[in-house]
Amino acid sequence: MKKIKKAVIPAAGWGTRFLPVTKSTPKEMLPIVDTPTIQYIVEEAVRSGIEDICIITSPYKKAIEDHFDRTKELEQLLSATGKEALAEEVRAIGEMANVVAIRQKEALGLGHAVYCAKPFVGDEPFAVLLGDDVVYHGDKPCIGQLMDVYADKGVSVLGVQTVARENISKYGCVAGRQVGDRLYTVEGLVEKPKPEEAPSNVAVLGRYIITPEIFRHLENTKPGAGGEIQLTDGLKTLAEEQGMYAYDFEGRRYDVGDRLGFLEATVEYALRREELRDDFMQYLKGIVK
Ligand code: G1P
Repeated sequence: MKKIKKAVIPAAGWGTRFLPVTKSTPKEMLPIVDTPTIQYIVEEAVRSGIEDICIITSPYKKAIEDHFDRTKELEQLLSATGKEALAEEVRAIGEMANVVAIRQKEALGLGHAVYCAKPFVGDEPFAVLLGDDVVYHGDKPCIGQLMDVYADKGVSVLGVQTVARENISKYGCVAGRQVGDRLYTVEGLVEKPKPEEAPSNVAVLGRYIITPEIFRHLENTKPGAGGEIQLTDGLKTLAEEQGMYAYDFEGRRYDVGDRLGFLEATVEYALRREELRDDFMQYLKGIVK
């Protein structure tokens, strides 16, 4: 079985839920504490052993590519002024992975965005990580958990968690059968079903291991929910062809594409920072009273 070495990060959306800042700043560059959200996503892939990363972008998103480039002038300036640790941190971002970008020329949906990565992916299984979902786990990165399932089963794997039934209409929804600890077979998939029509409350939360046959299915996928070419629809026919698993991953997931979810991530990541924790906690206690 082939090892997963590549990841695709779709980042071509307008970020309309985060206007006005997304008018000129890519939503992927919004910081949680001091780090752009997309860096947390890239770090998750890198910590899982992935080295090659393809970001699917659109116009006005050049800042994302710049972020993962080397900035030697800044590194030299930091070193020359005695800020060696910071210089090292900046250097490490530029070297953490081989990052390439492919432009999605038209906003035709997530399935189309993933299809744009076909020349990068070739004939290998690959990971997909969506930037709106940030998942915290101290030692087992979410995509690495799915890679372990793939190594065992050899077919595509979806990262899922259960959500409140009234929220299922925001997500891809899995109909499945539990076949192991945290593990389901995928018997059906529906994009953003109405709560009363949803086959379950098991939601796909922005993490996928996908076999390369997906590209053949995406070629034939017609626009679905919202008039967009949906990854979920391509995955549904892939599951019928090859079988597929869903894994209820461990970790705290934040919807950072949503303002409230973004604030939750900001507070909780700040509290995980040793240098901020005590002062920030004291401040929070003070205002909550
Ligand atoms: C996308 C997918 C959906 C998935 C969700 C996870 O939807 O289409 O299946 O559950 O991401 O965040 P979006 O949030 O882009 O509308």
